[in-house]
Amino acid sequence: MPSKTIIIIGITGNQGGSVAQRFLQDPSYHIRGLTRNPSSPAAQRLAAEGIEIVSANLDDINTLIPVFKGANLIFSVTDYWEPFFGPDCRARAGQLGISCRRYAYNVELQQGRNIADAVAQTVDSLDENGFIASTLSHAKVRSGGRFTELYHFDSKAEVFPRYVRERYPALARKMSCVQTGYFMSSYKIIPGAYFQKKTAADGKVSFEMCFTTAPDAPVPHLDVNADVGGFVYAVSKMPPGKSYMACGTTCSWAEYMRLWGQINSVPACYRQVTLDEMVSSISTADTEFGREIVDMFSYSTDPGYDGNGPDLLTAQDIREAGIDCPMTSLEGWMRKEDWSCVLQQG
Ligand SMILES: NC(=O)c1ccc[n+]([C@@H]2O[C@H](COP(=O)([O-])OP(=O)(O)OC[C@H]3O[C@@H](n4cnc5c(N)ncnc54)[C@H](OP(=O)(O)O)[C@@H]3O)[C@@H](O)[C@H]2O)c1
Repeated sequence: MPSKTIIIIGITGNQGGSVAQRFLQDPSYHIRGLTRNPSSPAAQRLAAEGIEIVSANLDDINTLIPVFKGANLIFSVTDYWEPFFGPDCRARAGQLGISCRRYAYNVELQQGRNIADAVAQTVDSLDENGFIASTLSHAKVRSGGRFTELYHFDSKAEVFPRYVRERYPALARKMSCVQTGYFMSSYKIIPGAYFQKKTAADGKVSFEMCFTTAPDAPVPHLDVNADVGGFVYAVSKMPPGKSYMACGTTCSWAEYMRLWGQINSVPACYRQVTLDEMVSSISTADTEFGREIVDMFSYSTDPGYDGNGPDLLTAQDIREAGIDCPMTSLEGWMRKEDWSCVLQQG
């Protein structure tokens, strides 16, 4: 019989879905997942697995308060990209006279605050380490003001941990912040930048990765669907108040390409390019998307994807504390991935 309740935000998505799959394996937890649309196929599939699916909207705190009430553990994630890409959001950004990057920042920031305000109302029911928030580093702060428009980082970091620490010290004492590495699956979003196929005059084929990150800068790589759940489960067994980086491997993009070429038996290399070159390789149609992404790749050099802040705990640290925390390595993921679309691109 379940004796504890975990609330999972974003349960129909990558991170929340992974958390649900891990906690399903522990019968001591009753799982309650939030969605805006309980009748969606994704929500229905989760309900069929025995998960309590409830309707709630992060834009409306009044829908969150009753759903969070009495929880032992809450997993939080917010999504920058839906308000960034939504056609109605673009129209609203235009009406407000702000960029869609800034608009999505405002939406994600408010959603994060709504979550924090609502969780704070049930702080007493939470376990000692009862609030685990998915977040990223604060680019503006960590770069000393050099990166002022890495909006999808700062909209998370402004709340988790900053706002929670400032407003809700009792909740901050029960919170863990989990930064997530580059999703290994993200190559599907910008294939043109990850793998540019070149055919030489003699017909020989090779692949080039072109980002603004320095070739030797280490970056964290995460198999989001496979590993976020296990990582969050392991974090829930740790003492509260700590910050983490969830990733299976930390290595440079040059090393990534060396490994990828070796696994696929093709010549492959990495080349650092300028901001303008990378923006145009990502998308000519959506420059705003290009700039948001390219800022992240540049920030990954200096100060670094994690902001080069106070040390973040990793899966290795969790294992050293005696807690199981299996993670997928970049090599293990690459060997399982079907690369035919990339290799056979025109
Ligand atoms: N791509 C990368 O490499 C990378 C790396 C690190 C971090 N990230 C961050 O990861 C985040 C996205 O996480 P993900 O991939 O797990 O998300 P996802 O798969 O796109 O799913 C988004 C989830 O959020 C829920 N949601 C969105 N708006 C909501 C609202 N207003 N009210 C209630 N629920 C809402 C959705 O639920 P319903 O649709 O069912 O309501 C869905 O479950 C982004 O913010 C991104 O910046 C990405």
